[in-house]
Amino acid sequence: MTKWLLVVGVLIPFFSAQATQDPEVLYNRSCAACHAGQLPQAPQAGDRAAWEPRLAQGMEVLVVRVTQGFKAMPPRGLCMDCSAEDYQAIIHWMSQRPDT
Ligand code: HEC
Repeated sequence: MTKWLLVVGVLIPFFSAQATQDPEVLYNRSCAACHAGQLPQAPQAGDRAAWEPRLAQGMEVLVVRVTQGFKAMPPRGLCMDCSAEDYQAIIHWMSQRPDT
């Protein structure tokens, strides 16, 4: 029992110190439900023209809006384990994605 507690205590810091998750994987898992063309209001991944005015608001504003929810977008954009850094990486990925 004590051994297990020790193992957990040693492993948890590793998990929380984990590097940012892959933005494409997170996008496909959570954001693609709306940001791949299903919801006309949601700027699509790769649609640079749609992303430009949004990006112009500043990355912090965008991260806060995903975290708290914005209009038709639910809080956290349905990604419950995304950090602020993850959102930043996904937003960057969505706005730059070249192949759409
Ligand atoms: C249930 C649908 C839905 C999901 C899931 C969703 N979004 Fe959105 N998102 C929207 C809609 C709709 C808008 C457009 C809101 C508007 O401007 O009317 C939007 C807008 C945004 C914006 C722009 C906000 C602004 O200030 O212009 C960002 C950034 C964003 N989403 C990121 C994400 C990320 C990252 C994820 C995944 C972690 C995600 N969204 C998941 C529906 C969704």
